Amino acid sequence: MKIDILTVLPKLLESPFDHSILKRAQDKGLVDLQVHDIRDYAVDKHKSVDDYTYGGGAGMVLMIEPIVNCINSLKAKTKYDEIIYMSPDGELLDQKIANQYSLSKNLLILCGHYKGIDERIREHYITKEISIGDYVLSGGELAAAVFCDSIMRLIPGVISDETSALTDSFQDNLLAPPVYTRPANFEGREVPPVLLSGHQAKIDKWRQEQAQQRTEERRPDLLD
Ligand code: ADE
Repeated sequence: MKIDILTVLPKLLESPFDHSILKRAQDKGLVDLQVHDIRDYAVDKHKSVDDYTYGGGAGMVLMIEPIVNCINSLKAKTKYDEIIYMSPDGELLDQKIANQYSLSKNLLILCGHYKGIDERIREHYITKEISIGDYVLSGGELAAAVFCDSIMRLIPGVISDETSALTDSFQDNLLAPPVYTRPANFEGREVPPVLLSGHQAKIDKWRQEQAQQRTEERRPDLLD
């Protein structure tokens, strides 16, 4: 999978992709992730990327020219499945959507900032808008990192234990069952004995029951 992320704050995206599973996905060549600085595509000598909003009002708006220059230069080299704008107005990200996008070949993701982006970009260049929740972040970068994490970990080979992503919470509309590791007894608090029994069928049944019970208690809406 190829992912191109467009931002005015590329440094914000360095750390999330430079560790653990997301780094391994890139090191293994399973994901080619590139972060592009929109400022490199600015059209004036000050390298401006934002300007005052027409009609007045607080906050700056990301300008159309640098973003469209950046999108067009990338589109000349790559055919994208979707050009995504991270926005609280977008479709709410959930596991089903993450599963769908994990099958993409090439994605371009635009991060907004300040008051937003010039509406003409949304009308003419963006093919999908995605929100990571009903709250407003300072910019789309952290949302893009969350979205990319949710899809990259599903690509076969990214997680070493192939079954592990499939047993995540939400994959079957159930929350994940509790997990334990050594010691088996910590200050008198014991691990459920069935997990130490070595009887895989019983363990699987216990996990299924726990997942069901936890979902009923915490997220009954998932069972509807
Ligand atoms: N940008 C700002 N807030 C956001 C959100 N909730 N989801 C996606 N992008 C955003």
